[in-house]
Amino acid sequence: MDKIALTGIKPTGSPHIGNYLGMIRPAIALARSYTACYFIADYHALTSHGESRALKQKVCDVAASWLALGLDPAKAVFFRQSAIAEIFELTWILACWTPKGLLNRAHAYKAAVDANIAAHRDADSGVNAGLYNYPVLMAADILLFGADVVPVGLDQKQHIEMARDIAAGVNRHYEPLFKLPAALIGETGSAVPGVDGRKMSKSYRNTIPIFAEPAAIHRQVMRIVTDAKRPEDPKDPEQCHIFSIYRHFAPASQVEAWRQTYLQGGLAYSDIKQELARLLVDTFARQRERHAALVKDRAAIDEVLAQGAARARAMARPMLDRVRRAIGAS
Ligand code: TRP
Repeated sequence: MDKIALTGIKPTGSPHIGNYLGMIRPAIALARSYTACYFIADYHALTSHGESRALKQKVCDVAASWLALGLDPAKAVFFRQSAIAEIFELTWILACWTPKGLLNRAHAYKAAVDANIAAHRDADSGVNAGLYNYPVLMAADILLFGADVVPVGLDQKQHIEMARDIAAGVNRHYEPLFKLPAALIGETGSAVPGVDGRKMSKSYRNTIPIFAEPAAIHRQVMRIVTDAKRPEDPKDPEQCHIFSIYRHFAPASQVEAWRQTYLQGGLAYSDIKQELARLLVDTFARQRERHAALVKDRAAIDEVLAQGAARARAMARPMLDRVRRAIGAS
């Protein structure tokens, strides 16, 4: 039987090329050799209080993005977290086996507390219990489906370790119910620079979006910061943010040719920017069309997610039933 790869996708809206290289592309590749359970973590998104209309829109956009970028919903189990009530039942059970002190040490919660203390506010000011219990919900996501590997960015490593700790505690007390999942940390995630040279991230407003109009992609690429070297000066390609992005998309022979031009001198930054903009627009041309068609067809997306949810439930139910029996609930 196939091993299971599982990951949750926060509905943050349209993805950028940092998301693509760091997370989406490797996860879609992984779906070829694993049974992939990939879901939109919409209940995790509830910890920050947004508008319900905006959430719906973002879920739809994220689903359309993954489908347009090549996730095959006939093969992968692709669904919306909130459709699987079993996850939330398991969340409570796991919460009762989660030491409170473990949650006190979660990075996101600790960062909120530290910010409050620095601002002379109450330590837990503005912290809801959902944020506090976020790692428990995530453990339920992972353990309910018997995930073998969990592809995530480095920022999620602690959460996977917590899921393992929680699982081990339950297994020790009752019986070996849960598989212990392994994090699969992508290396490119943190290495993709944004147009200002910092890590590409929505919160820095330095992203190059995948599905924007070609003109907008062009504009962002032109904004990539460079040093003040003149075209004739030799340059180190490894220090150049344009090259750092370009190398992920161009064929190896092209990358090598540009590398030589950097080293020898004679490269104008504006030339390689033009080249990169063209390359990004071309690379995602078909996907951009598919994405545009999908976001307009909400019913089709809902249907794909509903079918995924039915398959997800068929995996989740027997597992939850086993847990319920083990704890004496049935
Ligand atoms: N917390 C993850 C993030 O912020 C999203 C997520 C939710 C997740 N549940 C998960 C990731 C389960 C992996 C496995 O990106």
